[in-house]
Amino acid sequence: MTARRTVLLTGASGVVGRSILRESGPSGPRIIPAAHSSPVPEAQEPPLALDMTADRFGLDADGYAALAAEVDVVIHSAGLTEWGLPAERYEPINIEGTRRVAEFAERAGATVHFMSTAFVAALAPDAPVPLSEGNVCVNYIRSKHRAEHLLRDSGLPHTVFRPTNLIGDSRTGWTSRGQIVQLMSDWLARGRAPFIPVHPGIRMDFVPQDLLSQAVLRAIELGDDEGEFWVTYGEEAMDTETCLEVLAKHVAGRGRSLTLPPLVDADTLDPDVLARTPPMTRSYLSVLRDVSEVTRCSGGVLPTSMPELRERYGVARVDDTAAYLAGLEYAAEHLG
Ligand SMILES: NC(=O)c1ccc[n+]([C@@H]2O[C@H](COP(=O)([O-])OP(=O)(O)OC[C@H]3O[C@@H](n4cnc5c(N)ncnc54)[C@H](OP(=O)(O)O)[C@@H]3O)[C@@H](O)[C@H]2O)c1
Repeated sequence: MTARRTVLLTGASGVVGRSILRESGPSGPRIIPAAHSSPVPEAQEPPLALDMTADRFGLDADGYAALAAEVDVVIHSAGLTEWGLPAERYEPINIEGTRRVAEFAERAGATVHFMSTAFVAALAPDAPVPLSEGNVCVNYIRSKHRAEHLLRDSGLPHTVFRPTNLIGDSRTGWTSRGQIVQLMSDWLARGRAPFIPVHPGIRMDFVPQDLLSQAVLRAIELGDDEGEFWVTYGEEAMDTETCLEVLAKHVAGRGRSLTLPPLVDADTLDPDVLARTPPMTRSYLSVLRDVSEVTRCSGGVLPTSMPELRERYGVARVDDTAAYLAGLEYAAEHLG
């Protein structure tokens, strides 16, 4: 029988961290939750306050050594996830923070499971078109890409999980915090969009957060220490029209109706048309266009490891449209 593993979970107070804690049952590993400043309601033990931007995570030498002596596995989920910031804002957390995690893992003899993003697909050398410099996600994506490389170059045992935009729990729609999908959907559901800028043929790839958590926990249970997993639906993901039908169904379920706005090819969108919209509208439309561009630069369909995740890690087979609807309903009831 293998000894119960001890896992350090960075970013335990985040959307992914809290989902992992909820998903981990009593037979799972011991999880030491680490956050920076926010509470971790699902934690089984008092969270550690770790700062990814500080040497030794801000611990003194003894505290750091004691933690390293305990930990067998690190789930590295802490990060700066806001989009649209200058590159230097991501550096201390997403890049240097990952470097510190690698140093820690080396000292602890631990395996690292790194939460990256599926959006790195847009930076692939064979991307059909380069991601524009002005894309709202570009600096965030580059920081995650560099963090992946840093781990690869470290030679440490590690896996990389690359989730696409996460939505609520597949069964209940629960999420600890609203995500970009809910924010955008809520805005569209209120009938605020004059049109939707989208690249023709792209897939709307949203994954329920519990599927990511199931995969990571199972990888730990199996003792896996290598692999790169695209936590996406890929070809199974809904198309734009289906996504909007789900949204319209959600709105109808709340006793309202939604006239779906026309789809406009984001590549041929006249910048003057965008510029003439009110600032708030422009900002939402720009994010929609930029997220669409990320998928387009990934070939229109994100790469996926879903078949492998189901087979190897027992990840639940979940219909993405049903999960999206559940997430919309949860958000409407609970996130305001
Ligand atoms: N959510 C998604 O849709 C999604 C999709 C693809 C990839 N990912 C990746 O998955 C990871 C987790 O995402 P998430 O949605 O859970 O992010 P999140 O909700 O924004 O949470 C970020 C976490 O990082 C912690 N953190 C921030 N600055 C820190 C610092 N200086 N030191 C220590 N901890 C710090 C935060 O702690 P405090 O709250 O205590 O400040 C929080 O626990 C990220 O690396 C992200 O790139 C997420």
